[in-house]
Amino acid sequence: MTSTEDLPEHVRRNRAYWDAVAEDWVAAGRRHWQEDEPTWGIWNLPEADLRLLPDDLAGQDAIELGCGTGYVSAWLARRGARPVGIDNSAGQLATARAFQREFGIDFPLLHGNAEQVPYPDASFDFAISEYGAAIWCDPYAWIPEAARLLRPGGRLVFLGNHTLLQLCAPDADVPVGDRLVRDYFGLHRLEWTVEESVEFALPYGDWFRLLRGAGRVTPPSRE
Ligand SMILES: C[S@@+](CC[C@H](N)C(=O)[O-])C[C@H]1O[C@@H](n2cnc3c(N)ncnc32)[C@H](O)[C@@H]1O
Repeated sequence: MTSTEDLPEHVRRNRAYWDAVAEDWVAAGRRHWQEDEPTWGIWNLPEADLRLLPDDLAGQDAIELGCGTGYVSAWLARRGARPVGIDNSAGQLATARAFQREFGIDFPLLHGNAEQVPYPDASFDFAISEYGAAIWCDPYAWIPEAARLLRPGGRLVFLGNHTLLQLCAPDADVPVGDRLVRDYFGLHRLEWTVEESVEFALPYGDWFRLLRGAGRVTPPSRE
């Protein structure tokens, strides 16, 4: 575990925020732990339609970056992978541990910052983030870190909010409007005052530049 003083300022703020709201995410976490067939995102789209998980997960070393209550890692474990979850919030990890006991699935859970993961280079075949590092970590820190952790040919899957939603969101947890309230090309750090937290988003061109620059992570082809 990284001591709080050593963490970047946005990670400290997000830790305090997520520890404060962890209790509110228990019910959603249990619902997802109960699912055999994963569903994704705010529209609960089924895995059969989105195909975010590789077919060949059995025996793969996997890491979930910002695992929260741990259900994505549980889905990976049920498919035969060996997941590790890392999360910045002790509160979220306490929920994940309780679900591990309740559902009889065990895997390592680390308390730490997904921008700096205490594993050697090339430790994993698969990395995933569902609204975890994908939106709460600085992409210029966590994408190179994910690339470092992956073996050659390893795959990174991440899922977050649509950029258009972030452009029209005046603040966290308030209705998204029908007007752009921030500059698309200036997107990076989003300061939420209602929730006292920090999220990140990039214009699509910057995502592609970043992913290509990270070397081992190749954006999918258009096929
Ligand atoms: C919306 S949850 C998504 C996780 C999981 N899919 C879930 O719903 O339980 C966001 C998670 O990201 C975690 N998080 C935020 N910043 C992080 C960081 N720097 N490193 C690791 N986890 C982080 C939070 O603690 C929280 O558990």
